[in-house]
This record gives sequence, structure tokens and C-alpha cells, in this order.
Amino acid sequence: MKAIRISEFGLPKVMELKEIDRPVPKPDEILVKVYASGINPVDLVVRAGSNAALSSLLSLPMTPGWDTAGTIEELGDEVTGFQKGDAVYGVPNFPGDGSYAEYVVAKASQFAIKPKNICFNDAAGIPLAALTAWTAMFEFGKLKMGQRILIQGASGSVGGFAVQFAKSIGAYVIGTASANNFDYLEQIGADELIDYRTQKFEDLVQEVDIVLEVSSVRDNNERIKSVQVLKQSGIFVSVNTDFAFNDEVIHALNKKNCKGELSANQAKKESLEEIAKLIESGQVKVPQGKIFALRDAVEAHQLMESKSVNGKVILQVREQTNEAY
Ligand SMILES: NC(=O)c1ccc[n+]([C@@H]2O[C@H](COP(=O)([O-])OP(=O)(O)OC[C@H]3O[C@@H](n4cnc5c(N)ncnc54)[C@H](OP(=O)(O)O)[C@@H]3O)[C@@H](O)[C@H]2O)c1
Repeated sequence: MKAIRISEFGLPKVMELKEIDRPVPKPDEILVKVYASGINPVDLVVRAGSNAALSSLLSLPMTPGWDTAGTIEELGDEVTGFQKGDAVYGVPNFPGDGSYAEYVVAKASQFAIKPKNICFNDAAGIPLAALTAWTAMFEFGKLKMGQRILIQGASGSVGGFAVQFAKSIGAYVIGTASANNFDYLEQIGADELIDYRTQKFEDLVQEVDIVLEVSSVRDNNERIKSVQVLKQSGIFVSVNTDFAFNDEVIHALNKKNCKGELSANQAKKESLEEIAKLIESGQVKVPQGKIFALRDAVEAHQLMESKSVNGKVILQVREQTNEAY
């Protein structure tokens, strides 16, 4: 099968299209015939080798790509609840071989039937970002109806899902983003918006139940400001797990009896099923990504690195016929 392989860490051009053996699923795995693979910020970090802790977990050569939509080609002996041919979406085993490839093996527990009302290209932009928002907000933040949440980075891939999930349960959403993304955020239901380029959220917000850090910012001084806007006993959740809280942040949290959580996404079939229901009911909209062919992975990463693209970038691995929906 064809796959994009990395044999050394470096610039996008280290990614090469190669012919490799098709993987074989273990008893608890499925073999997915990949139709599309979404690109996430972490793919760029993996390819560049820019995070030493993460790089130490990787073995080269490898195939990147941890956002997948496709159909089930084979099932391991222990897999239940799926059939050959099911259209699925999910997260293959991070940080093992991913889905910039014609086939990928993955734990069946990390996949679900994909939303029926969207194509594979759109479905491939969902799992990692949506699960990151879901885990952070519901597993760690314990967000409930009627609560007030400040979402920092509301316009991003993770943030866009976070805003819509929070609205779907009746929470009050304040989002930070660049002003040019306000139209989008109003369309998806944000109640209040703050332009982080020209406004200080700490002067405008107070007494929120939860602050969700889903921006690309890694700055503990900003986190201290976030704790200031929390209620007593509120919860600060960051998805930037590669950037630990320093002593000052921990002290600020303790002083207000607040909790601080670093939330890594949990790829769970049950969460993907809930997310699929919200998409099928129209409560959650999925933005269309910019599509590249698998062989153009280098250009796709270059575009992501240029930061000139708004929204997801997707590698289309196969032609998408109507039967394959
Ligand atoms: N823990 C996990 O499992 C996990 C999984 C996936 C992602 N992540 C992390 O989650 C973060 C978001 O990922 P993503 O894919 O959603 O990224 P993204 O689509 O690039 O979104 C980034 C967001 O950050 C905002 N932003 C950029 N610079 C900012 C600044 N100086 N101040 C405030 N906000 C700023 C952007 O706002 P504008 O575009 O409106 O300017 C945008 O809303 C990344 O740090 C990523 O590493 C974690």
C-alpha cells in the first residue's frame, strides 16, 4: 500500500510517499481502508521532532496522521459491534503509525460509526479536535447546563467544537479569538466574544465556572490571569499538556480553592458516538477543510506552518463515491 513515511525528523520535505506492507490487525483492532486523514498541529511537531519527550516515544520510519475516516476492511477476532464495510471515524493508536496511508490499523475502541450526513473528508477533520474539546470540557471541566465558561482559542479546531458542545448542553459561552473570526463564532452560538489582540479578557470577564485553554498559547502568566476570572472553586482546564503549570499558577489556583487540570484527549468510542449524534442532529456544524491529495502531504504541512489557513487541512486518500458515504 502507499503511505507517507518519515525516516528522519525535519522540514516537511522529510515526508515521502512510499510503498509499504499493509498492516494486519491484532485481535482488538480493525483495519481501516482510509478515505481521508486530518492534519493536526501535533503532526507537525512529530514530523519536525521538535518535542524531545514526544520524539522519544516514536520509532522511525513511521507514518503520521491521527485523524481518520474510512471503512472497515478487516476485524480482529475480539472486535464486536462493527462489521466489514462500516463507515467509521476515529483516532488510530497515537503515537504509532497513523493514517497518511491507504490503510491503518487501530484499536476498535477508538473508532465509531461516522456521522451519516457528512462525507469522509469532513469526518476526518473531527475526531482529535472534537475529542480534545469533549474530554477537557466534560471529563475534566465537568461542565453543566447553566454554567459560564470562558473558552480561550474559541475559533480554533478544538475551540469551535468546544463552543458548540457547551451550547448543546445549555452553558453560557464567552470566547476569545481574533476579531476576523467573530462572524463564525456568532454563527455557532457563542454568547460573548473578546478579541485577544485588542482587549484584555481579565478586565472584561469575571466569576466563570470554567476556563478552557484551547489556544495555541503557552504562557503561565496568562494562566494566572485566567485563574483570576474564575469563581471560587472553579476549574481551569488546559489541553496544552506539553506545558506544565508553574508554582505561581498552582499557588493562584490553591488560593481560590480552584482546580487546575491538564487534559489529554481520550479517544473513546462512546464519546465519538455522542459527537456523531450532535452532528447528525445539526446541533454541531463541521467546517469544511482545505483538501490535498495524499501525495501532496509536504505542501499540506507547509500550508499549516505558514499559518495562512483558517480551519482544517485534510489529506484525501481515496476518491469518494456516493456509496462510500
Ligand atoms: N491535549 C490534546 O490531546 C490536544 C489535542 C489537540 C490539540 N491540542 C492543543 O490544542 C491547541 C489548539 O489546537 P487547534 O488544533 O484547535 O489549533 P488552531 O486551530 O490553530 O487554533 C488555535 C487557536 O488559538 C488562538 N490563538 C492564537 N494565538 C493566540 C494568542 N496569542 N492569544 C490567544 N489566542 C490565540 C487562535 O485564535 P485566532 O485564529 O482567532 O487568532 C485559535 O482560536 C494547540 O495548542 C494544540 O497543541 C491538544
